[in-house]
Amino acid sequence: MGSTTFPRRGLPPPPRIDELAARGLALRDAGEADAPFLQALYAGLRPDEMAFMAWPQALKDAFLADHFRLQHHHFVSHFSGADFWIVRTGVKSTVGRFYLDRSASLWRVIDIGLAPDARGQGLGSALLRWAQAGARDAGAAGIDLHAAVVNARARSLYQRLGFRPEGAAEGYHQRMAWRPR
Ligand SMILES: CC(C)(COP(=O)(O)OP(=O)(O)OC[C@H]1O[C@@H](n2cnc3c(N)ncnc32)[C@H](O)[C@@H]1OP(=O)(O)O)[C@@H](O)C(=O)NCCC(=O)NCCS
Repeated sequence: MGSTTFPRRGLPPPPRIDELAARGLALRDAGEADAPFLQALYAGLRPDEMAFMAWPQALKDAFLADHFRLQHHHFVSHFSGADFWIVRTGVKSTVGRFYLDRSASLWRVIDIGLAPDARGQGLGSALLRWAQAGARDAGAAGIDLHAAVVNARARSLYQRLGFRPEGAAEGYHQRMAWRPR
């Protein structure tokens, strides 16, 4: 687990953080100590796939640990200028991760993921709306993200928030972008 490190670059603090606080949300930089939480969160994002695999639990755990490690390595090496935030609420503290790259004109949601018992309460919408407000303030070209083609619920949320498909689906994922008027 020692490889779960994050780049430290002294990025500008997240804008409009008081608006998130008003929604009972807070962000802090992820760190190595968050690895157990992040790994459990990752496992919780893939329960359906795992349910189909007739593997012993130990093999599933090893598979998920490996994939988490590879995904983490990909994120921090390809998006070394990004913010890697842990999402917190006043009630249950650590509830998710929100990885946002503000280093290019078109911002990128690298990942947004909440623990199962934190979903469906408006937190994801609040985070994305907050990022949209920040992008508008910063004069960014917009925000894009990749949604799994099979994740119809997430895609419908993005659609409601003004994200539209751009280009053809790339294998398992569809790029969607929101652009301020
Ligand atoms: C997608 C996600 C970040 C949305 O945050 P949220 O706080 O649950 O969403 P909100 O409460 O603000 O909005 C509710 C909408 O989110 C979407 N949503 C809710 N639960 C979801 C889930 N388990 N998976 C995917 N989308 C979900 C639906 O569109 C829902 O609207 P509906 O109830 O009318 O179907 C969160 O549900 C999550 O982490 N899901 C699992 C991981 C995931 O799918 N990440 C997106 C990768 S592209």
